[in-house]
Amino acid sequence: MASLRVCVVGGGGREHALARALARSAEVVVTPGNPGMPGEVGGHRISLSAAPPEDIAADLTVVGPEGPLVDGLADRLAARGLAVLGPGRDAARLEGSKAFMKSVLAEAGVPTARYGVFDDLSAARHFLAGLPGPFVVKTDGLAAGKGVLVTWDRSEAEADVEAKLSGRAFGDAGRRVVIEEGLDGVECSVHVLCDGRRVVPLPAARDFKRARDGDRGANTGGMGGYSPPPEIPPPVVDQVLDRAVEPTLAALARRGVGYRGVLYAGVMVTSSGPVVLEFNVRFGDPEAQVLLPRFADDPAEVLLAAATGTLRGDPGFVSDAAACVVAAAPGYPESPRTGQAIEGLGPDGQLAEPVEGVTVYHAGTARDPDGGWRTAGGRVLGFGALAPTLGEARDLAYRAVAAVSWPGMQVRRDIASGVDRAALSR
Ligand code: AMP
Ligand code: GLY
Repeated sequence: MASLRVCVVGGGGREHALARALARSAEVVVTPGNPGMPGEVGGHRISLSAAPPEDIAADLTVVGPEGPLVDGLADRLAARGLAVLGPGRDAARLEGSKAFMKSVLAEAGVPTARYGVFDDLSAARHFLAGLPGPFVVKTDGLAAGKGVLVTWDRSEAEADVEAKLSGRAFGDAGRRVVIEEGLDGVECSVHVLCDGRRVVPLPAARDFKRARDGDRGANTGGMGGYSPPPEIPPPVVDQVLDRAVEPTLAALARRGVGYRGVLYAGVMVTSSGPVVLEFNVRFGDPEAQVLLPRFADDPAEVLLAAATGTLRGDPGFVSDAAACVVAAAPGYPESPRTGQAIEGLGPDGQLAEPVEGVTVYHAGTARDPDGGWRTAGGRVLGFGALAPTLGEARDLAYRAVAAVSWPGMQVRRDIASGVDRAALSR
């Protein structure tokens, strides 16, 4: 049988991981992609296209980022008869509006933090006054993972509400805010694949959202991750499926809204079980970089089955662990400085001196005319590793980090470095 042709939409580390996983069996076109992606993987080509996804003939289109889904890309592709992994505009509102997501969760009886939705400062202040803290202030709209403040300081929370509502901090995305009570526990990312009827789980993963070691600093798009997390009890995934994903999909279905694609629940595992912090309508970044390499079954076949309503049994995963460490530009996330020369990469964008088990995922890089590499975004590279144990995967990823540099390269040193069991028993 001729191999499938798959189109991946997006241009970051997650899309690089998707392209490489799909290229295990399929020819892959990425739009717009980035210069670190093209090449041969296991005999299949990854190439770039500047064409809009609607104009790319493919057996399957996988949409990486949330923005195009919220804008209705999946509906437009489906209208052309293309098989697409990613929900339509109506379902993508789960991520596009936190206020909408919270209302669906409330209707579905899904455990989630107590909250209020505000577009008025004095009502927001009044609500904050009634919370014990920590205080959580979120933009209603999309903010690339950076629109959330968690603080014990009520006046900082009030100032953040004011900056968001005024449009100063996040433009229109912040003119409405969701304020929540802060929850204590261990965070984890639970991804499922939905084909419109069936739901199958992927293994749990963890990501590191804060910019600096010890979970300090601003919220970022994600500074690293790993899977499976030994500190997350295995029943958590099934609990999230039963108590959060299934009721949410049922609530959407009652509104006449179907779901085909990846649904990613960000959960806090508290002393009374998993509580949903957010839903995302696509793979996490960098969770994709630690989940896709663990597929035992062919990722292209599994994702095509989800896109075409033909998922059967649960997909298989290898027992090896995966870790990914992200290297960001100096100043990320507030004001990344880019354009610096990157040392340590070969012409193919992988390590100049390869390390067995390591893959370099490109997120924000550019190619010099002489073939060298430069930084061109906030998150620049991800160093992914797959190994029999999590400790080995982490050590391999950090060996790769040590082989690459640019001025001011920003890396967390504590990805997968210890697991917080204490928090679970608190
Ligand atoms: P979100 O985009 O909603 O997942 O929020 C980004 C990050 O903020 C999460 O990964 C958590 O680390 C943190 N966060 C969000 N909501 C809460 C909450 N209710 N309690 C504690 N931390 C939270
Ligand atoms: N890693 C967090 C996200 O993709 O939203």
